[in-house]
Amino acid sequence: MAKLQGKTAVITGGNSGIGLATAKLFKEEGATVIVNARNETRLAETRAQFNGTFDNVIKADVGVVSDLESFFAEVGEKHGKIDVLFLNAGIAEFFPLDSIDEASFDRLFNVNVKGVFFGVQKALPYLNDGASIILNSSVVNQMGMPNAHTYAATKAAVRSFARSLSRELIGRGIRVNVVSPGPIETPIFGKMGMSEAQTNEMAQGIVQQIPMARFGKPEEIAKVALFYASEDSSFVVGTELAIDGGMVSL
Ligand SMILES: NC(=O)c1ccc[n+]([C@@H]2O[C@H](COP(=O)([O-])OP(=O)(O)OC[C@H]3O[C@@H](n4cnc5c(N)ncnc54)[C@H](OP(=O)(O)O)[C@@H]3O)[C@@H](O)[C@H]2O)c1
Repeated sequence: MAKLQGKTAVITGGNSGIGLATAKLFKEEGATVIVNARNETRLAETRAQFNGTFDNVIKADVGVVSDLESFFAEVGEKHGKIDVLFLNAGIAEFFPLDSIDEASFDRLFNVNVKGVFFGVQKALPYLNDGASIILNSSVVNQMGMPNAHTYAATKAAVRSFARSLSRELIGRGIRVNVVSPGPIETPIFGKMGMSEAQTNEMAQGIVQQIPMARFGKPEEIAKVALFYASEDSSFVVGTELAIDGGMVSL
């Protein structure tokens, strides 16, 4: 029996990387899968590129609270109640402390922190009792990685939300858990404003810190997200799983 048969899953950032791999896996497991796209261009691209992968794609910038509100209202109207919510959309920017500017700080906190907090809040009226919420943090939430200060702080906030929101929602049987990926091969590294040479240099430096000596694959995060989404994790709440080839634990 498919693990998400008859379930409705919403995945933010479901048109790329980890979100896309998870959307495909959830679909294989029988779920109705709805994703967002952050603007009109990405909406058109997502519909054209992944025709049939998703049951619906709706425009929403997760850094804008009114977009989140209209997104979940449309999901509720068209698809009914949500069983699985994977708040995965996020951005990464790594700059030395002396060159980070206010705009970068605001972008990171708007998308990675505000997007997650208000994502949960605006989804609440449309969540089934017993729903599973999965947040995407990062192993850097517990590391002191150079240039990652702001990004790491956003991901630590996400980890913290999972604890307090779990307590707040437990009366409705809603479980909140966290996937914390280590370095995963996704398009995110090409979106950080670095040259290809800089990106490659950074990637080589990162691999040296991973005991398994490789980047992870998006599908390796998707499998953990499926565990949290399904009945397999029915007694698991407020937890975090690092999926990182041993980066933080060894
Ligand atoms: N890859 C890693 O090594 C790694 C490690 C730890 C944690 N993570 C976390 O994993 C999550 C997914 O990242 P990924 O690696 O799969 O990167 P990705 O391929 O770039 O995917 C990020 C997704 O988030 C979407 N997104 C970004 N800003 C948005 C906004 N303002 N509104 C709506 N959607 C927005 C992106 O849309 P567009 O495609 O339109 O930009 C994309 O669909 C992120 O939260 C990231 O921090 C990744």
